[in-house]
Amino acid sequence: MAPKGLSSSSITEGLATSFIGQKVVYYPRLPSTMDTARLEARRGTAEGTVIIAGEQTEGRGRMQRTWLSPSGNIALSIVLYPEIASLPYLVMIASLAVAHSIETVTDLKTRIKWPNDILIGGKKVCGILIENEVKGNKVAYALIGIGINVALKASDVAGISAAATSLKDELDRSVLRANIIRRLLTEFERLYLLLPAGESIYEAWRDSLETLGKRVVVKSGDNVLEGIAESVDESGALVLRCVDGSLARVVAGDITLRDN
Ligand code: BTN
Repeated sequence: MAPKGLSSSSITEGLATSFIGQKVVYYPRLPSTMDTARLEARRGTAEGTVIIAGEQTEGRGRMQRTWLSPSGNIALSIVLYPEIASLPYLVMIASLAVAHSIETVTDLKTRIKWPNDILIGGKKVCGILIENEVKGNKVAYALIGIGINVALKASDVAGISAAATSLKDELDRSVLRANIIRRLLTEFERLYLLLPAGESIYEAWRDSLETLGKRVVVKSGDNVLEGIAESVDESGALVLRCVDGSLARVVAGDITLRDN
């Protein structure tokens, strides 16, 4: 069945938020919602403005990777103007809000893979990309990019089917994207308004991570580390017990679970 159409009003009408998603700009096709969100932020658009693309032609992911955004998936960016102390929590808020929206709308069980991949049955269903502009000790803007595989058939895409899934693959039925997005924006705002007291957000995020206690390989730039993912700290960094017994703190990277 063809994916049901998205529109700005399908998101904003009756949305129970005070600012996140109160302005939504929908484009049938964009290179990347991140670039359009950046232009909006530079023009001083209202905090919580959401840019949604029906499809992206140059979607991007973390570590300069390409992100596939065919029609029928969710690709959006949220514009924020947070305090600098709030920056580490944005990734936690985004991950928790996506996990909540998928679980509430579909009943599927999700886990978070450090730092911010959302998994279903061990396969990635959502990626999150955060781009900040910081000047001195002030955040000019933060852009929260969220891509959810909804209608994508992972087995049709060479090279990703072992590691990726979609809501349709998991449910074998279509899901209304507007319902996922509305839930996501509502939960995002609820968590964002808990800041600057981020402790409960950190604890909820830490407890949703599938990674802790497991043997992992972490790629961070040119470094490859192996050990047990012992914990995460409140800034979001991974604390790794390396094979030689030392502790390493990894701020950004990609993690792969090792078979013990
Ligand atoms: C990742 O897992 O590497 C992050 C993927 C982030 C993809 C989203 S889709 C909406 C926004 N626009 C982009 O170009 N990227 C993000």
